[in-house]
Amino acid sequence: MTTDTQPRAQWLGRWGFVLAATGSAVGLGNIWKFPYITGEFGGGAFVLVYLACILAVGIPVMMTEIAFGRRGRGSPVDAVRRVVRESGGGSAWSLLGWMAMLCGFMILCFYAVVAGWSFSYLWKMLTGAFAGATGDDMVGIFMANNANPLNLGFWSTLVVVVTMLIVGKGVQAGIERSVSWMMPGMVVMLAILILYGAFSGGFGEAWRFLFSFNAGSLSSEGMLAALGHAFFTLSLASGAILTYGSYLPARASISRTTLSVAAADTLVALMAGLAIFPIIFANGMSPGEGPGLIFMSLPLAFQAMPLGTLFGILFFVMLSMAALTSSISMVEATVSWLTDNKGVSRRTAAWGTGIVLWVVSTLAMLSFNVAADWTLAGRHFFDWLDYLTSRWMMPLGGLGVALLAGFVLKSELMRDELGLSPRWYALWLFAVRYLAPLGILVIFVDALGIARVEFGLHWRWLLGLLALLTLVGELASPRLRRALMG
Ligand code: TRP
Repeated sequence: MTTDTQPRAQWLGRWGFVLAATGSAVGLGNIWKFPYITGEFGGGAFVLVYLACILAVGIPVMMTEIAFGRRGRGSPVDAVRRVVRESGGGSAWSLLGWMAMLCGFMILCFYAVVAGWSFSYLWKMLTGAFAGATGDDMVGIFMANNANPLNLGFWSTLVVVVTMLIVGKGVQAGIERSVSWMMPGMVVMLAILILYGAFSGGFGEAWRFLFSFNAGSLSSEGMLAALGHAFFTLSLASGAILTYGSYLPARASISRTTLSVAAADTLVALMAGLAIFPIIFANGMSPGEGPGLIFMSLPLAFQAMPLGTLFGILFFVMLSMAALTSSISMVEATVSWLTDNKGVSRRTAAWGTGIVLWVVSTLAMLSFNVAADWTLAGRHFFDWLDYLTSRWMMPLGGLGVALLAGFVLKSELMRDELGLSPRWYALWLFAVRYLAPLGILVIFVDALGIARVEFGLHWRWLLGLLALLTLVGELASPRLRRALMG
């Protein structure tokens, strides 16, 4: 039984937070989604814009969330309420915490289904289900896997059960312990897969695809996808990072840990690209295959290669672990809110959450078979969960976090918590006041269909970037800083 008098749990090891937050950030988004959207939107230019979004929006918002968590020492609901109260802000801001907590939970409801694909593909690899399969067979296997609700439900249920087992054990014995071996293990497996890809003959092409800047090839849609994905991949605005931040010891540096997490997340995404594309290119496949890229093209490529089954197994073990370390962070907000406010033990909270999660994720799973025709405005339930969270709740939550920190909270509070030098503090403030809100508003204007935001990526963009960098450099001057901070 947890009571109010017990101090809140903290990460045990020096790397506890960084590993857990990186585990949350690195997931299906990095290994499944990043490669296929990079493929769809044409490679290098997309990667460049994505990196800019991580730097200008992702990192400042992540620092803010960690600071909220540590200052408020609670679940998103409690932490946001506390920091707002400390600054005398309005109580409506606590909606932000509720939305974040709900958002993390809703993401997991469909994420569990995709993670279930990963587990089931691992099983198929182990049992040799792909032997001798052609491209058409691969599509058939993918569809058959979805078509049977008992099969698909088995795998998503497994994901829910394993997630709740880990979370139920607690912050240190459950989350911290599991990420401390899964994360290093994942990186080693990814490195082995890159080496394998390097010898497959497609490495040079993959490298050029990812890193050569091809001006003019990026659509406005691609730029919006880059910004949206920056939020998704860093697990922002969904309560995960904020809750993990609430276990961060007071002496840890928020800026340094944020940089480590964002850098590791980006590195893994690029590494995943470098592991997957060589194999795709070496087998003469197209990089723009969409969501089926790693589930249909990749197993096909593996089975045509020497030792392919072995490396295919390695790939899906890695993917499943990446998915699990993310899943556990999505329910942690809810579980910590229940233990803090409802006087239940962590185990009870975890199983209670798990049951609701199981019901909703099962409904999401049914969208692929029995309830495939069960649509509302053209989307079935699975799509609704994805659409509502990534198009609405995450951008809205990110906007709220940025505005709250930039305009509402007392400036001493964030300055204290972030512990930045004046120059870096000014940069952070500039980002949460102007850069992040502006970027997010652009997504909304586009999503709402108010206006199609049209911009191609041309050399004038680089000029604009240069102007921005000059402005940012100017912020380092004391005069401008005073103007900004009042
Ligand atoms: N970052 C995760 C990934 O890349 C996905 C994700 C989005 C997430 N929001 C989250 C994970 C919230 C945990 C919590 O796969």
